[in-house]
Amino acid sequence: MGETTHVVGSEIHQTDAVLFVVSAYTLSKGALKRLQAATAASTHLPTRLIRLEETGPSLIAALDELREDGYRNIRVQPFGTPFPESLLAWIPGVLADWQTRGQNADTTLTVGPDPSRDALAITQQAVSLLSDTMPPKPVSGIKPSLGKSGWNLPPDFEFHLLVCTGPRCAIHGAASFVHLLKEELAAAGISDRCLTTRTGCIYPCNKGPVLALYPQGHWYRLPDLIATRRFVREVLVEGASAEDLRFHTARAARAEIHTPQKEIVT
Ligand code: FES
Repeated sequence: MGETTHVVGSEIHQTDAVLFVVSAYTLSKGALKRLQAATAASTHLPTRLIRLEETGPSLIAALDELREDGYRNIRVQPFGTPFPESLLAWIPGVLADWQTRGQNADTTLTVGPDPSRDALAITQQAVSLLSDTMPPKPVSGIKPSLGKSGWNLPPDFEFHLLVCTGPRCAIHGAASFVHLLKEELAAAGISDRCLTTRTGCIYPCNKGPVLALYPQGHWYRLPDLIATRRFVREVLVEGASAEDLRFHTARAARAEIHTPQKEIVT
């Protein structure tokens, strides 16, 4: 198994595998594969590349997999610019938490630098993009358009489901949750009554996977398939509230619940 060594101050850090992490809310499978191939070509060490939002293994799962494969000195390298500063601040704590689980203390983790600090690499990329190897394409002859005709009208729906697929919900399983939810909506025959929107962080990250339901204004934590099934059946189909899954009610909905009905004088 290959290894590289870095000396930082008086400490020696070894690396036997690199986990690249990117933050991108939308990324096609093709683009993800190209990034995986490009980062793999950057070092003789084994590499993985994951996306922190929505698809693929979470940061925790990717570390588990690398450890299962025998790697004990893993460098986690944020990749792509700009890389969100909030995630740069969050990642070290997640890594330290991972080390407290099971036998993971036998694995050394390091975190690579903020990619935006590497001004030379960014300039080199800009230079490369402007070089003749990838010439720009003219837009002459292309039909002027700000959007497709199907984008004129909002869809007709009864429930708006805002499903957080932010990186902190993803670490709690939000990636698989979105797919489960869509399957359950289809199985219940109510997909066309629901507009499901994937969102970035909506704040209560520790409760992830998080879903906000409107117009009800109720927020739910749906940690697994059983909870997701109950939410679809009890809340959306039967109109119940599934109190044990709900952890928050938006202000306007609270006001509606607590405002006493005016007495009707006849
Ligand atoms: S990442 Fe989902 S609430 Fe923050």
